[in-house]
Amino acid sequence: MMQRSLVLLKPDCIERRLAGQIIARFEAKGLNIVAMKMLRVTPELAKQHYAEHVAKPFYPSLEKFITSAPIIALAIEGLDVIRVVRDMLGATNGLNAAPGTIRGDFSSSRQMNLVHASDSEESAQRELDLYFDSAEFCDHELLLTPSMRAEDEA
Ligand code: CMP
Repeated sequence: MMQRSLVLLKPDCIERRLAGQIIARFEAKGLNIVAMKMLRVTPELAKQHYAEHVAKPFYPSLEKFITSAPIIALAIEGLDVIRVVRDMLGATNGLNAAPGTIRGDFSSSRQMNLVHASDSEESAQRELDLYFDSAEFCDHELLLTPSMRAEDEA
């Protein structure tokens, strides 16, 4: 099923100059970036985004981290992209993430795990609406798509 996912390259990703390498992995996989921007997450946005974690003991530290430097937000489109991107990221804690995944290759932290991605269609819609206005999406079909998958793999 064609889906969109909200992906955030977190402050540690920007600070460590890993944004290009990580975006390149999504491109190489054949996924389609349909919106992208750099921004600073405010405490208010952090509380909305991480609403399910606000009451947890680690939240103050998470908010301090996610608001500490700019992030890059991307809307990524593709077949089953929500699961595909989560699989590409690996386990939440970089120490547990499998080698070959983004966190497995680049992170050794539970909090500084470089990238966030939506975990369900419901969260994807909610998170995409938090970070992007509808006018910021550039709908397009890449010319190389027929080289990426067969016509009946829609
Ligand atoms: P993310 O996928 O963005 O979703 C919630 C974030 O909270 C998670 O990545 C981590 O950055 C952070 N997180 C999750 N669990 C913990 C924890 N136990 N302690 C600190 N940070 C956590």
